[in-house]
Amino acid sequence: MKIEGKEYCTIWFDKDQQVVKIIDQTKLPHQFIIKDLKTVKDAINAIKTMEVRGAPLIGGTAAYGIVLAILEKNDLDFIKKSSEELIKSRPTAINLKWAVHRMNNKLSMINSKDLFNVALKEAKEICDEDVKFCENIGLNGLKIIEEIYNKKKDTVNILTHCNAGWLATINWGTATSPIYHAHKKGIPVHVWVDETRPRNQGANLTSYELNEEEISNTIIADNTGGILMQRGKVDMCIVGTDRTLSTGDVCNKIGTYLKALAAHDNNVPFYVALPSSTIDWDIKDFKKIPIEERNSEELSHVEGVDENGNVKKVLIYPKKSKTMNLAFDVTPAKYVTRLITEKGICEASEESLKKLFK
Ligand code: MRU
Repeated sequence: MKIEGKEYCTIWFDKDQQVVKIIDQTKLPHQFIIKDLKTVKDAINAIKTMEVRGAPLIGGTAAYGIVLAILEKNDLDFIKKSSEELIKSRPTAINLKWAVHRMNNKLSMINSKDLFNVALKEAKEICDEDVKFCENIGLNGLKIIEEIYNKKKDTVNILTHCNAGWLATINWGTATSPIYHAHKKGIPVHVWVDETRPRNQGANLTSYELNEEEISNTIIADNTGGILMQRGKVDMCIVGTDRTLSTGDVCNKIGTYLKALAAHDNNVPFYVALPSSTIDWDIKDFKKIPIEERNSEELSHVEGVDENGNVKKVLIYPKKSKTMNLAFDVTPAKYVTRLITEKGICEASEESLKKLFK
């Protein structure tokens, strides 16, 4: 998608420089900086510090992380150690583990002289596949938006939470892909963007990328969605997910569950968009999903631009106050109207997911 009119993906390998290029998302929306990852440690650090974030993009970065590991040391033990460290770098989004396992399976029977080329091809394939999947999610989700528009004959108002846009994937996004496709088709859409405290991915990333694609959007405080739904200002909600269980329970950015409850109470359809790499077929009990508890500074400090154009971080809480910062919650399947996947739209249930994918 576009930034200042130029097409980008979120990650790519530069063959001449032998580095992985990323858009440093910790600097957005105030600065657009492309950063080089030269070692597997750089990749781990980029995931940990959220220079890259969003489940599919974390997966893509982990895959390229293994390519970088091979560039450093063409050695299976080093790949194994690096793989373990990559998996540990963020626990909730399942795409990370999925991508690392896929890379290791591919490399397990390969001669050491071919490791680099095979790894590079596989990492690229993981990323290209994600682009295709997200595009298909968009085409499938477009049908839902079209249906609402055909009934309403007026702007379709869509509420989203966090950033499940192209910046969270390789391109297109999950939740935003149907929106981009609708916009390209000329359907008038407007997006209510949840600010998404504490890191403000909604304001800093979703609104930013929608602006760059010239899609009408309005940032709202996280608690505003309920009253908008009561006032009939939301036609549908659509969110992404970091891990969806085969039971249909959806783990996503903290606050998603409350939005789903409000949607349920107001008969607003609540959709979750995901590629199959985000499905966890093993865990059945959502309480067993590892939920990240993050640094309290994410809550107590806020970053912005001062009157001189300098980026600054400031403390906004009383110095002595304690904080708690859980990064994700789980929306039970019963509150999910439908899942939108690359293979089609289905109920949030094991039976329906298996019909599509098994
Ligand atoms: O903490 P983040 O920014 O890595 O959060 C992950 C997400 O971007 C969201 O939860 C998103 O909605 C799902 S990933 C497409």
